[in-house]
Amino acid sequence: MLSTVHKAAAALATATIATFWISTMISEIFLDHTAITAVKTAIPYGFFVLIPAMATAGVSGAKLAKGRVGGVLSAKSKRMPIVAANGILVLIPAALYLATKAQAGSFDTTFYVVQVFELLVGAANLTLLGLNMRDGRKLTAGKRRRAAV
Ligand code: HEM
Repeated sequence: MLSTVHKAAAALATATIATFWISTMISEIFLDHTAITAVKTAIPYGFFVLIPAMATAGVSGAKLAKGRVGGVLSAKSKRMPIVAANGILVLIPAALYLATKAQAGSFDTTFYVVQVFELLVGAANLTLLGLNMRDGRKLTAGKRRRAAV
């Protein structure tokens, strides 16, 4: 049960960030300012999904680990404060700033500098979450093998 909650929350958190990232890229590269403004306005509402999903993934992961440390589990837990710091210090403020700027029609140099920085830090967080998924699969590889025989 807890394992299912963990996987669902982890998948939802990762998918939410991927959706922010891809919709930003598509609107910036192919679409007009109206579409960019719509994407930038929608992203902060997505935090109401992302933040609980991320917290649930972290807390359920820690419970599944049951105090076990070392190896893959330590690598997974060490990534979480980095993901959280990137989110709280960069991604949330940047998303709120970009939404306000887009709504004011202010697509100036500062907008694009912050936008590029947000995409880079977003890609870093997606990479860290991808590594946690890979390591999660490693943790359950034995279980899968046992289930197959
Ligand atoms: C948001 C970050 C995280 C992501 C994306 C993630 C992803 C995953 C995935 C996809 C699995 C399931 C693999 C499978 O069923 O084949 C898994 C399992 C697991 N994860 Fe995470 N995880 C995250 C955070 C954590 C943290 C912080 C810990 C604690 C150190 C943790 C501990 C575990 C454990 C112990 C399992 C094995 C569960 C079982 O035996 O069924 N995870 N993780």
